[in-house]
Amino acid sequence: MAIPSNILTFFIFLFPTIFFCISQATTFEITNQCSYTVWAAAVPGGGKHLEPDETWLVNIASDTNSGRIWGRTNCTFNATGKGRCETGDCNNQLECKDNGALPVTLAEFALNQYDNLDFYDLSLVDGFNIPMEFSPNSSSCRGIKCAADINAECPVELRTKGGCNHPCNVFKNDLYCCTSGNCTATYLSDFFKTKCPDAYSYAMDDQTSTFTCPTGSKAALSSTSSPMLLFSWMHRLDVFDGCI
Ligand SMILES: *[C@@H]1O[C@H](CO)[C@@H](O)[C@H](O)[C@H]1NC(C)=O
Ligand SMILES: *[C@@H]1O[C@H](CO)[C@@H](O)[C@H](O)[C@H]1NC(C)=O
Ligand SMILES: *[C@@H]1O[C@H](CO)[C@@H](O)[C@H](O)[C@H]1NC(C)=O
Ligand SMILES: *[C@@H]1O[C@H](CO)[C@@H](O)[C@H](O)[C@H]1NC(C)=O
Repeated sequence: MAIPSNILTFFIFLFPTIFFCISQATTFEITNQCSYTVWAAAVPGGGKHLEPDETWLVNIASDTNSGRIWGRTNCTFNATGKGRCETGDCNNQLECKDNGALPVTLAEFALNQYDNLDFYDLSLVDGFNIPMEFSPNSSSCRGIKCAADINAECPVELRTKGGCNHPCNVFKNDLYCCTSGNCTATYLSDFFKTKCPDAYSYAMDDQTSTFTCPTGSKAALSSTSSPMLLFSWMHRLDVFDGCI
């Protein structure tokens, strides 16, 4: 006796769909813990004006595997969402579709990767504009942060308005940009690494800068936010997975 084809359809198509939904849909909770206004940006996701202590929930579509989140400062936008920012500007749009102008502190993620892991990192490879924390909402995974006041101590050759350039963006050579894929830390990348040990300081800095968390690990417990209360000025980014 043949199995009715609609039941087969259910198991072949619908069942994997349900599984995907549970494992892939993700919400990022972005809270401005800085003392100043931040225009948060997410690609995919868009952008949002956040006063201190305001939160933006960004729902990432289930077919999205990777993206980036950053903050913009000193922005002016008109009623149609066109304008510009002193740092992190994404092609003059409030709702970002393009990457932010350098220098910018980046939170990067790659969800549902091999071994059912989510990968996440903070990167100073595009320079620094504001401090950030990036925490999966799971008790078993480590939150990472870059809390140092890098702008105030930025080496003079890297200084720019509202931020601190990565040397790649200033000198544009293989030593700092690592276009050959074969380079080591430098005196200038060490400046960033000393200030923010959790973050990428140059392109080949993976060993101390890439973090993983099991995909879809459920948000039962709050993240390790208590030490962060010390950094009430921080732009905190929390991540949790769930079917929404
Ligand atoms: C915005 O610009 C003003 C004036 O240039 C500056 O004093 C301030 O520090 C900037 N704010 C941020 C968050 O960068
Ligand atoms: C907003 O700015 C853009 C670009 O400058 C301009 O084309 C548009 O007319 C402005 N819209 C409003 C409502 O001011
Ligand atoms: C990387 O650079 C070092 C030092 O310049 C060199 O000895 C080595 O052969 C290079 N490795 C590759 C894979 O290019
Ligand atoms: C973690 O996620 C749960 C919802 O699943 C939420 O209630 C809680 O506030 C989150 N905690 C943090 C620190 O984001």
